[in-house]
Amino acid sequence: MNAFTKIENPVMPLPLETRGFTVEPAQQSPRVLEVKFARKTVEAFVKAVGEWPVQALEYKSFLRFRVGQVLDDLCEGTLRPVLLNTILDRGTGAMLITPEGLDDVSQAEDMVKFTTACAHLIGRSNYDAMSGQYYARFVVVNTDNSDSYLRQPHRVMELHNDGTFVNQITDYVLMLKIDEKNMEGGNSLLLHLDDWAQCDEFYRHPLARREMRWTAPPSKKVTEDVFHSVFDTDSEGRPTMRYIDQFVQPENFEEGIWLNALSESLEGSPQKLSIPVPVGSFLLINNLFWLHGRDRFIPHEGLRRELMRQRGYISFQKPLYQRGQ
Ligand SMILES: [Fe+2]
Repeated sequence: MNAFTKIENPVMPLPLETRGFTVEPAQQSPRVLEVKFARKTVEAFVKAVGEWPVQALEYKSFLRFRVGQVLDDLCEGTLRPVLLNTILDRGTGAMLITPEGLDDVSQAEDMVKFTTACAHLIGRSNYDAMSGQYYARFVVVNTDNSDSYLRQPHRVMELHNDGTFVNQITDYVLMLKIDEKNMEGGNSLLLHLDDWAQCDEFYRHPLARREMRWTAPPSKKVTEDVFHSVFDTDSEGRPTMRYIDQFVQPENFEEGIWLNALSESLEGSPQKLSIPVPVGSFLLINNLFWLHGRDRFIPHEGLRRELMRQRGYISFQKPLYQRGQ
């Protein structure tokens, strides 16, 4: 049985077997599925989308969906149901995706196209104010003078959800490693809400649903504060979160102390997963029931790491026609 066939209540029929890629549970946790694309599939994709530079995808939004279709066609229609059902499935909701052969910074354009294809088979990536595009590429080096922990290498970036300080639905987060030089440490950290022992305790606390203020630092280029609670509930009554330690602005002592306790509980959770992401691979996670962060890494003069992110909403419609008709 394939890892993805355990998914409950699929929104699209799951294929009996995959074509052009494989799915296996990750060694760190069965909640994380490793999706590996065969070199042949990746090469055929790169060739097929060669006529569109990334700039074309930036200018014409619909081309982002078209590159998704190209990839799904190469997988004989088996990819979209697997990606969509996994990202929605509470039992998993996280994928480490590896396109074989895309593993050097010189292939960064193709990496961006590949991630765009996957993201647009499950929904649509939001406008990212930091870059002015639907994705953001950013570099981490040994020294940093930025105004958040995004680019600061020598300390842990604590567990959080993305999109907490914008008025955009942020159902998924996609994080790609484009380059890495002289790196030691820096694994991605993940925590599923259902694995966090104290989740229920915090979720049931009166402050869990209190509207709080969230403010971004200047580099994010978001000038308006947003207001929402830390916890919410999904359509089946399970907890979801929209939380980040750096940008929440507690109004008073009571809120500040509760938020600090929440932060300590999350950071201390033994269920936190530490996942290495090789160059060219990317994590695609459900942002409502997974928290993510990044472990510290060892200082090095020649340290360089380049990342790309996309965040967006999940959207799908059952096909109106059958393939081939
Ligand atoms: Fe993040």
